[in-house]
Amino acid sequence: MSRSVIEMTHVYKTFGEVPALHDMSLRVQQGEVVGLLGPNGAGKTTTVRLILGLLKPDKGDVRLFGEDPYPDDLAHCELRRRVGVVLEEDRLYPHMTGWENLQFWTELYGMPADKAPQEINRVLQLVEMADRATSKVGTYSKGMRRRLAIARSLVNRPDVLIMDEPTSGLDPEYRVQVRDILRRLAEQGMTILITSHNLAEVEKICTRVVIIKKGRILLSSTIQDLMREYGSELVITVNTDASTLRDTPLFQELTQNPMVKEVKLYDNTVRLALAEVDNVSPIIQLFTKHQVPVKEIQTISPSLEDIYLRIVKSADD
Ligand SMILES: Nc1ncnc2c1ncn2[C@@H]1O[C@H](COP(=O)(O)OP(=O)(O)OP(=O)(O)O)[C@@H](O)[C@H]1O
Ligand SMILES: [Mg+2]
Repeated sequence: MSRSVIEMTHVYKTFGEVPALHDMSLRVQQGEVVGLLGPNGAGKTTTVRLILGLLKPDKGDVRLFGEDPYPDDLAHCELRRRVGVVLEEDRLYPHMTGWENLQFWTELYGMPADKAPQEINRVLQLVEMADRATSKVGTYSKGMRRRLAIARSLVNRPDVLIMDEPTSGLDPEYRVQVRDILRRLAEQGMTILITSHNLAEVEKICTRVVIIKKGRILLSSTIQDLMREYGSELVITVNTDASTLRDTPLFQELTQNPMVKEVKLYDNTVRLALAEVDNVSPIIQLFTKHQVPVKEIQTISPSLEDIYLRIVKSADD
């Protein structure tokens, strides 16, 4: 049976006059990889900070492994040890070396001193920072600090990762590397909550997305269901100007087909929004039946970015 690792129930949070979260409910089950998405100012970081006990909700309940995470202090040592965290600001100590930063972290959460070096080496290698481990963090580039912060989040072998834009500031190569690390951890059953503005990345890592805007949830859905719901487009290139097909029996049959949600005619293409894409041959056969030669067939699946933009824009209406 799946268990909730993170649970927010009807949470409200206001900063002065600014309502940051409004009736936010979010549940992340063990083994889920959830992407928390939304425009700037939507409330993603506020959500993360509430889950980590860095903020207290005005109203509603927040649970992390069934416990109230607030306040984030050493009384919660065992809880903290189970959570790998990457925040927007990295909270690394610039006057300490990379190694010392990680060592401090392992000491804070009670890792035996004889075990620490091995774990520190493991995570440094994972993010390819071993060669810079003896330099002071103050001398690191932005991307290097980010990678060290990711290493730190993994050093205690946590049960859940909560990451606020972990790949921001990373170059494309390291972005892919971090994505692969997260994907591998997810395959091993790690529970992950991640915020990101990089939707291609989210699409590759996450099993579910939650989209918020102005502190309210617009959507919570598995990526699989989203793709199914938003369907695909079948683009059929014909030999003629497609608009001449408008009043033909082929057009009528296409519009009446239960697989087809919408028919658009552009230049020499017939564009069909499909409910499902399992088998398009009955549709192609209609063209043959009505003696309309088909030059090319292409299916286009929407990206998470396309879907996200549609959802976020339509919330303005
Ligand atoms: N400490 C604070 N004091 C005052 N207002 C705050 C504070 N923290 C957040 N807010 C406000 O709460 C709202 C949500 O902010 P939050 O940082 O959670 O957004 P976000 O989704 O993380 O945005 P971004 O994508 O830019 O990181 C914003 O209107 C922001 O100005
Ligand atoms: Mg933020």
